Amino acid sequence: MHDTRRGSLSCVGLGMTLGSHLTPLARSHIEQADVVFAALSDPIAEEWLKRMHPDVRSLQPHYAEGKPRMKTYREWVARMMADLRAGKRVCGVFYGHPGIFAWSPHKVIEQARAEGYEAHMEPGISAEDCLYADLGFDPGRYGCQHFEASQLLYCERRIDTAGYLVLWQVGVVGNRSVGRFETGPAYRALLVERLEQDYPPGHEVIVYRGATLPIERARIQRITLRELAGAPLTAEETVVLPPAVTLQPNRAMLDRLQALDLRGQEATAA
Ligand SMILES: C[S@@+](CC[C@H](N)C(=O)[O-])C[C@H]1O[C@@H](n2cnc3c(N)ncnc32)[C@H](O)[C@@H]1O
Repeated sequence: MHDTRRGSLSCVGLGMTLGSHLTPLARSHIEQADVVFAALSDPIAEEWLKRMHPDVRSLQPHYAEGKPRMKTYREWVARMMADLRAGKRVCGVFYGHPGIFAWSPHKVIEQARAEGYEAHMEPGISAEDCLYADLGFDPGRYGCQHFEASQLLYCERRIDTAGYLVLWQVGVVGNRSVGRFETGPAYRALLVERLEQDYPPGHEVIVYRGATLPIERARIQRITLRELAGAPLTAEETVVLPPAVTLQPNRAMLDRLQALDLRGQEATAA
């Protein structure tokens, strides 16, 4: 059994926009760590992080062309676990929210806890949070499904077209193992084919990129579903499909609710 007072682990989110999204609590995890590992989308963000801590180690060099993505992520976990087992306070810093569409932070926390270490995840502002603000929609209005785009190709999933559909990692759709490198229009054409089972080809598709630097503005492109395959897309964009059909009332449930209301009123009157 390890001594839980020795090494400890935190995985924190830096938020999306450099300098403005970091929470005081995430910052304190960074500052109090013995060693900081960084998996950030932007080298400028890494430089900024280095101003908060003298020992920031980038996890980016583990990526390589042709190398399976999972191998890279397992190496990240191994790097953080090695310092944790050496008794250090380890902080993993990830862009956005460390627990959203990110495998390694969940895995390293699970492994650390299984070995008896204290481990904590500190949330951050994710691309999801930014898109509600920038695109101006509330996921509670019609409901909202989120999928990793590739999962729609690999698995049988049911899309509810009465709500919003948010697709992550569309730029690398169909990339089953190799690196984080972008796949081309032929891969996205398969995604469009899958989506056309549920949506008309002329349905609106929003290609969204939130600002990562304070001097930038969000990029919002509105195209049609049929144009999605040919649209230029990087690994940093998220795709949103607004609802295609109106909400259908559930008459049976509404009747039962009304019956309950009436019974309640009768009981109060008696
Ligand atoms: C591996 S996930 C990481 C998400 C991150 N943990 C978060 O909380 O936003 C990468 C995906 O996040 C989305 N993403 C990353 N940067 C983005 C940005 N600047 N604007 C919009 N979406 C972004 C894209 O869907 C991208 O494929």
